[in-house]
Amino acid sequence: MTALSVSTSSAVSLRADALVIGVAKGPKGLVVASGAEAVVEAFEGKLAEVLTTLGATGAEGEAVKLPAPAGAKAPLLLAVGLGEAVDGPFGAEELRRAAGVAARTLAGSKKVALALPAGSADEVEAVALGGLLGAYAFGAYKGEAGKAPVAELVVVVERKGSKDAKAAVERATVVGEEMNRARDLVNTAPNDLNPKSFAAIAQAAGKEHGLKVEVLDEKALAKGGFGGILGVGVGSANPPRLVKVAYTHPKAKASLAFVGKGITYDSGGISLKPAGHNETMKCDMAGAAAVFAAVVAAKRLGLQVNVTAWLALAENMPSGSATRPGDVLRMYGGKTVEVLNTDAEGRLVLADAIVKAGEEQPDVIVDVATLTGAMVLALGNRTFGVMANDEALRTKLHETAGAVGEQSWPMPLPADLRKGMVESTVADLANMGERMGGGLVAGLFLQEFVAEGTAWAHLDIAGPAFNEGGASGYTPKGGTASAVRTLVRFAEDTAAGK
Ligand code: BES
Ligand code: MN
Ligand code: ZN
Repeated sequence: MTALSVSTSSAVSLRADALVIGVAKGPKGLVVASGAEAVVEAFEGKLAEVLTTLGATGAEGEAVKLPAPAGAKAPLLLAVGLGEAVDGPFGAEELRRAAGVAARTLAGSKKVALALPAGSADEVEAVALGGLLGAYAFGAYKGEAGKAPVAELVVVVERKGSKDAKAAVERATVVGEEMNRARDLVNTAPNDLNPKSFAAIAQAAGKEHGLKVEVLDEKALAKGGFGGILGVGVGSANPPRLVKVAYTHPKAKASLAFVGKGITYDSGGISLKPAGHNETMKCDMAGAAAVFAAVVAAKRLGLQVNVTAWLALAENMPSGSATRPGDVLRMYGGKTVEVLNTDAEGRLVLADAIVKAGEEQPDVIVDVATLTGAMVLALGNRTFGVMANDEALRTKLHETAGAVGEQSWPMPLPADLRKGMVESTVADLANMGERMGGGLVAGLFLQEFVAEGTAWAHLDIAGPAFNEGGASGYTPKGGTASAVRTLVRFAEDTAAGK
């Protein structure tokens, strides 16, 4: 794991394997960003010229290496692009991305000093978080070939306000480590991560961090009448689980329930997915990973709010014991659902968990799920959809996501789409509705299981949860930890009464 620290020493006096500075695209060519003053001085004012000669422009994503100037204690200098130069401070997202590019580019180094713009606490936090996220690498199955992530990142800060800086780095450490925990869970191969092993990981983390963890195994689920989770898991040799991870603060004035879709592998079941659609379906537990990471982060940050994460874990497989299209499930709480397509399984496990979460009467329920391909078609690979039964909550989550650098968009739950979905000839509901607007139909299905009067929101992260493209900024290939930052900030705001 990468260690993070802060230093108020001059960038050139820090002993490190590499020193990172920021550069930007000015109206008259490359400009060196703040934080690198000591380096500019060591180059006798010629740094921008030298970098331009090497082809650097300051564009976002750019990383140019050069020997460090005489007198610097680090042998290597890395200039990373911040994009267009701006009047005033750079945005937090630009800083996170640049720090992420730096940490990724320097994989294999032991110690890296980040001399990026870091005057305010927000800037310090952005550099620290971007660095920690960019350093992430999933090496569990790699031999010697994989480069080790940077072992130590030092954020160089301006002398003033260094106490704030320390707190900012501490927050970044918690959020970054918990996001990397979520990424590890998503990246773990589905023959290693199944409902049982995920539950065991949750129990171990609960013990480590002092969280209350309760696991319902297949017997307890049957006894409790959790027909949705059982119906999805019944075709697999790996039985399902419902895991509750609770964090309580003695002075909490509000309670949040975060519900995560945790399909450790989605083959589609009897409605089997064709080749080309199942290679990445280990990511179908990214919602459960996100809510789990968020509750651990809430605890580590000591937030004055109660947060309960519900992990609805099952493996969706075809077999002689699997649920068939045509089967009727009796869900937790008593509603019956005709399963018309076993590949629409996420809503079935979530329905049980939402009803269960609702029994505790939380102030807000937020579910997070890689729920529909339709949402990916609508919003693309980097934006999640936000639906809710409460417009203010939908707006709040969308704005919270924006504030922490996650792309999202508010989506409607149109009443007319509900009709097709409830039309089962034999049961209360069917798990399918109109094909068009499939992401909204799924949201409407979930809404049926929300207790009257409870504010509920649904984040469909099917697009951004798993990055099949190349790494960029602080986002690696594979698991991204989508929605974790949004949930943590939402919990922080709730704790602060915002
Ligand atoms: N896990 C998938 C959704 C998904 C698609 C996640 C792409 C990540 C990337 C979900 O269980 C699913 O299969 N949904 C179906 C629903 C349909 C059968 C109503 C879909 O979207 O096609
Ligand atoms: Mn599916
Ligand atoms: Zn699924």
